[in-house]
Amino acid sequence: MNILILGSGGREYSIGLALSKEEDGRGQHNITFCPGNGATDQLGQNINIKDYNELASWAKQNNIELTIVGPEAPLVDGVVDIFKANDLTIFGPSAKAAQLEGSKVYMKNILKKYNIPTAAFIETQNQDEANNFIDLQTKLPIVVKADGLCGGKGVIIATSKEEAKDAVRDMLSGESFGDAGNAVIVEEFLDGYELSIFAICDGENYVVLPAAQDHKRIGDGDTGPNTGGMGAYAPTPLVNDDIYQKVEDRVIKPTLEGMKKEGAPFAGVLFIGVMVVDGEPIILEYNVRFGDPECEILMPLMASSVSELFYKGATKQLDKFDLKMKDQFGVAVVMASANYPYGSSEPSEIIVDEIHDEILKENSHISYAGVTKEDDTLFATGGRVLLCIGFGDDISTARNRAYALCGQVHFAGKKIRTDIAYQALN
Ligand code: AMP
Ligand code: GLY
Repeated sequence: MNILILGSGGREYSIGLALSKEEDGRGQHNITFCPGNGATDQLGQNINIKDYNELASWAKQNNIELTIVGPEAPLVDGVVDIFKANDLTIFGPSAKAAQLEGSKVYMKNILKKYNIPTAAFIETQNQDEANNFIDLQTKLPIVVKADGLCGGKGVIIATSKEEAKDAVRDMLSGESFGDAGNAVIVEEFLDGYELSIFAICDGENYVVLPAAQDHKRIGDGDTGPNTGGMGAYAPTPLVNDDIYQKVEDRVIKPTLEGMKKEGAPFAGVLFIGVMVVDGEPIILEYNVRFGDPECEILMPLMASSVSELFYKGATKQLDKFDLKMKDQFGVAVVMASANYPYGSSEPSEIIVDEIHDEILKENSHISYAGVTKEDDTLFATGGRVLLCIGFGDDISTARNRAYALCGQVHFAGKKIRTDIAYQALN
């Protein structure tokens, strides 16, 4: 199949890597990344077309049979609508359905309207109204969120009422997040453990992947500022059949039904950010795409065809998809550059030692993210640079392999967390 993947991160690399290992009746897939990164051209070709109408024309001319969208921004900007208007097959939600991630106010109102469990909240554009709600709270911390997309930075966990009011003021004034802060959500703090659950949806049917756990803070023991995610593992033992069933019955089904009623049927990845509080799954947020780094472990753990999953998701045939996962665990450790998440770093050459241990070689790999290539040499160019991923029959073995691989990868200023999967192993 001719497949186009939009995006440039480790998530898109991992989708491409999984697809590059498949064959259909016509042989291996032809994979194109737009724009891709310095390593994705080993899995296919990179192109760089920014305008979505132009990209749709390119896709038509090049007989693209399936387009997969990695990040949220193109979805919110309507790339799926443009491709569909051109009779192209594309996996992802329409711009309207992508508002589940594009606007936290929209998302919270859908949750409320369809009785889906979430933290008690108000949405407002008014400081006094926010202050009244904050004054009524009997517990701290209080959570303040900007409405729009803020690259994962629009959430303040305020430890005093003053701090919460200040956060609302900074957001509403446009100072902290520009237009994304025109409206705010103020909500109760949920005390529990977080899960990432992914439902692959086609508007009507869905397939649920094994739950993963991300590690959002930069430092060991969940300390320091939030990041895009410093590591993940799956499947997590912190979930059981009861939680999966509750998520299906109370969350996924009413969301898919609700979105149909809203005239915005949801197709694509519904990323359910769950907080488990006293055994009950409560929804923190929705995203409309795969988590990164969660995707990098879920793709290689799939035993059934990845292209078939996305193709059936894009063509309303998920009722005919049989999900099979490998009977293994995966642990991904992110290697970030020195100044992450505060700023950029000087590019530095990436050196990967030759791996002599056959078992390690077979049960680990690298997923490349923030890298560029010059004269066949890869350079770390900032942010999250790459992920070392290990697999095994248990989490501890998978994790040991991920860290063993980390020891073989070098670039100036490399930074990792040393405790990925600690909640599962404690
Ligand atoms: P979000 O962008 O909404 O996922 O928020 C980012 C992170 O903030 C989440 O992954 C949680 O760790 C934390 N968070 C958001 N909302 C809450 C809440 N109501 N209670 C506790 N933690 C929260
Ligand atoms: N790993 C969290 C995210 O992709 O938002």
